Amino acid sequence: MSQSSVSSSSKPFLRTLAGEAVWPPPVWLMRQAGRYLPEYRETRQTAGGFLDLCYTPDLAVEVTLQPLRRYGFDAAILFSDILVVPHALGQDVAFKEGEGPVLDALKSEADLARLDVGRVLDHMRPVLDTVAGLSRAIPETTALIGFAGAPWTVATYMIEGGGSKDFATTKAWAYGRPDLFARLMETLVTATGDYLIAQIDAGAEAVQIFDTWAGALPEAEFMRWVVEPIGSLTRRIQAERPGVPVIGFPRGAGVMYPRFVTETGVTAVGLDTALPCAWAAENIQPLAVTQGNLDPIHLVVGGESLDAATDHVLGTLCGQRPHIFNLGHGIVPKTPPENVARMMERIRNAPRPGHT
Ligand code: CP3
Repeated sequence: MSQSSVSSSSKPFLRTLAGEAVWPPPVWLMRQAGRYLPEYRETRQTAGGFLDLCYTPDLAVEVTLQPLRRYGFDAAILFSDILVVPHALGQDVAFKEGEGPVLDALKSEADLARLDVGRVLDHMRPVLDTVAGLSRAIPETTALIGFAGAPWTVATYMIEGGGSKDFATTKAWAYGRPDLFARLMETLVTATGDYLIAQIDAGAEAVQIFDTWAGALPEAEFMRWVVEPIGSLTRRIQAERPGVPVIGFPRGAGVMYPRFVTETGVTAVGLDTALPCAWAAENIQPLAVTQGNLDPIHLVVGGESLDAATDHVLGTLCGQRPHIFNLGHGIVPKTPPENVARMMERIRNAPRPGHT
């Protein structure tokens, strides 16, 4: 990243993605719109179901904006979910109170054959309208992030029929029937690529690909089912919408992080909470812009331990190299909103390391 690639954008988030070590670092939080905010819980009541909220542009715009009003985050992330893609492909998806997502699990080749990439963009019309609405509504210095789940993580929900602890059924497909699993992954790569490009065309200025369960795979399968599909999505976006940054989040990738970055070609990479910051500064920051990785539980606990953890991320990853301050995973519902305010104030007022 040369200095000449530094963008003249007025948005600190986009300047950071262009390679500039902006101070103070830009901040947004994964799942920043959500149940920890009373105003979210109120809008959610009005909407009825969670998917209704995702598919009603006025309400989805409103909940996306709520955390920006409180905290002035540097980026807004489209309010939606990674499971709208299986839904758009024709699979039944429901969110049950207290149970998380429930899908009509794929069981056979016939189930796979019924998935229809051709209907994805039509199905996504309200989500794309939300992106367009947000692009008009957000403050001038705030950037708009689009997103999708990575093919591997989305496939686990499609095959397990919901959340899972060991992904045993998905692995049985991936290891035992790689021909069949490859067809599902190709379907997901195409649908996800079409969807991300449509989000960019509707106004998304960067996209994040969430691979929440990347850390469940051994090396060979990590390369084939995490790196290859995210690499092909990244290359497609770079070819078809040049200049739009892609953030990869291969949660749990551990020592595979550097290979993930070099072989997918992502612009930036989200670091999970378990990754040591000093190791990331040495091994990942020379390769790509980084994002992360405060433990979301620090935001629940608050107080001096939150301050110390915030300072640790600032002191190890920020200032010298481009870094986007974020969590190492999504914010949790029992987070007291005032702890987020405390963290923001600390980041915005922090003295730049190495400067007096
Ligand atoms: O970050 C944001 O503010 C944007 C919106 C967003 C949501 N989900 C809203 C949501 C994003 C980016 C996601 C991503 C997502 N969804 C992931 C990947 C990131 C991660 O957290 O690991 C995954 C695995 C999902 C699937 C999903 N959606 C699960 C497992 C659940 C239920 C778990 C829970 O927290 O209840 C959801 C529901 C969901 N997605 C909620 C929100 C705000 C809560 C739904 C509610 O209001 O009842």
